[in-house]
This record gives sequence, C-alpha cells and structure tokens, in this order.
Amino acid sequence: MSKFKDIVLTGDRPTGRLHLGHYIGSIQNRVSLQSQHDSCFYMIADIQALTDNFDNPEKVRNNVIEVALDNLACGLDPTKTTFLIQSQIPEIAELTIFFLNLVTLARLKRNPTVKDEMKQRGYGEDVNTGFLVYPISQTADILSFKANIIPVGEDQLPHIEQANEIVQKFNSIYGETFSKIKPIISTTPRLMGIDGNSKMSKSSNNAIYLADSAEEIEKKVMMMYTDPKHIRVEDKGNVEGNVVFSYLDIFDKDKNGVEEMKNQYKKGGLGDVTIKKHLIGVLEEIITPIRERREQLAKDPKYVMNLLKEGTEKAQKTARETVEEVKKVIKINYF
Ligand code: TRP
Repeated sequence: MSKFKDIVLTGDRPTGRLHLGHYIGSIQNRVSLQSQHDSCFYMIADIQALTDNFDNPEKVRNNVIEVALDNLACGLDPTKTTFLIQSQIPEIAELTIFFLNLVTLARLKRNPTVKDEMKQRGYGEDVNTGFLVYPISQTADILSFKANIIPVGEDQLPHIEQANEIVQKFNSIYGETFSKIKPIISTTPRLMGIDGNSKMSKSSNNAIYLADSAEEIEKKVMMMYTDPKHIRVEDKGNVEGNVVFSYLDIFDKDKNGVEEMKNQYKKGGLGDVTIKKHLIGVLEEIITPIRERREQLAKDPKYVMNLLKEGTEKAQKTARETVEEVKKVIKINYF
C-alpha cells in the first residue's frame, strides 16, 4: 500500500460561465468522485485566470461566484467537497517558487496546451512569464493539498504530465514527499461546438451554457450544424460530423432510439427540425434542474461567498502543513 491517501482536487479558471463541455468533461466526474473519497477540494483558480486577464480583473472577480454557482448547481456539495479560492492561500504561491527551480524554460515552452493557448492569444515570444509558468503554479495547486486524483478535461493532460515530472524530481532530490498524480478523464468524447468546427469554447462562441434559458437552448440547437447537403426531408443525410447526432450520442439515454433515428436519417425521410426538436427535449431534461438550482442559489450570494470563505480557511490549514513539510525537507526550517 502507498503511504499516501487518496485526495481529489479540481479547479476552474473564473473567466466565464461554464458550459456543457465542462459538464461532461469534468464536472460530472467531480460530482461522482466526491461520494467515493473522504477528501475532495474544488479550487477557483483566480490567479491562473489573471495570467491572461491581468488587465481585466473585474472579469475574474465577477466570475468567481459564477463558476461556484455552476458547480454547486451541478451537485458539487460543499459538505463533501471543500471549495476554495486560490488567491487567498499564499502557501500555493510559496510552493510555486520552490517548484520553479525544477523546470527548465525549454520544458515550459514544449507544453502543447500552453503552446495552443499562446497561439490562440497571439503571444509569440512576448508571452508574459506568469502565463508561461502557470503549469508550475497548477502543480502547486495540486500538491499544496497533496492531491493525487485530478478529474479534468483532456486538454489538461499535458499539465498533469508536467506535474508528475515535478513530483518525481522533487522526491528524488528531497526525499519521498509527494505521490504520483492520476488524471481522471471523462469517457465521453470531447464535445464539439454547435458550429461543428471545433471543441465547445467560449472564445469560439459556440457553447451551450449551464445557465442558458430554455429559449437560448432552443435557439442554439436550431442553429446547429447538421449536413449541408440534407436539404429536403426526403434527402439522404449524413450523421458523421452532424452536431445533432453527436450530441444525441452523448446525452440521449435511449441508445436504440438514437440508432433508429440515425438509420432513418441516412435513408432519407427524417427532417433536421424533427431531430433538433428531439435534442432540445433531451438537453432540457439535463439542464432544467441545474438551471433551477442555480437560480435558487444565485438569490443568496452571501451564502455562496460564505461557503467559499469557510472552505478557503479550512484548505489553508492543509496547505500550511504542506509548506512546513516542504521547507523542512529543503532544509530551510531555521527557527
Ligand atoms: N487549468 C485548469 C483549466 O483551465 C484549471 C485549474 C487550475 C486546475 N488549477 C487546477 C485544474 C488544478 C485541475 C487542478 O480548466
């Protein structure tokens, strides 16, 4: 048996409301893991959000409560999961400083997710250093709480790999202090955006949000990319790359029903409006209880801020212990 116990941690950047891609990519896993493990943390990573929003702090601040509401509405339970705000725990920053020594500049520049994000943001060589090193600070997010089970979307895998390199290096230099980190990736394939072109994301303007109204969902589904050659109901249709069917594959529990619809669509005789109406029903069933709970919680922001405060205070005690231990093994515990 390992000397380490299982501790779960996940986080979101507070840069916008969360969407269905987040829901199937990691929130669902968070919710089920909190019933299987005694120790779970959920971090609102506002410092990480500032690495590319330092000039827009209002955006980060306003979205702290939004992402908390999204997670609470999906069933993340503050009595099972400790909610915390990253910036309020300086121990995480302290740990980051020690980890910076263990990672080379060349390694940072090789991280494929960071590379993609830099390209998207048009940074080039002029990337600010805070952004470039955020995977190191994310490692500190995890290790401050000695977490080893991390439910994340697949874009986060390079960060977990980098974190494990830090664990290995730290342990080999200073002695066995941290355990290997295991990512938990959703088995559901990545959710495409309503435009069918890329993954669902806020920046591509192709997302369905957990807080969207019934009207917004209807409008977005009606705009979904299907098969451009499927013009009349009698036309033969293509289900590959067809956003409506890819969503039905993920969200419709009636798998046989979906197969039948696909067959009929391929043969001809099933209209886009019919399949879209069906999908609206399927999505409404999932989103309605989330939306209602969210609206209820949003009426009491004090309750939400208070649970964030209490969780942060509790989490800080754990982070303090970790930093004390780290200072001891690095032999900078003088007094
Ligand atoms: N990078 C993550 C994202 O963009 C957010 C995050 C910050 C995170 N710290 C974390 C995820 C620690 C898991 C563990 O979604």
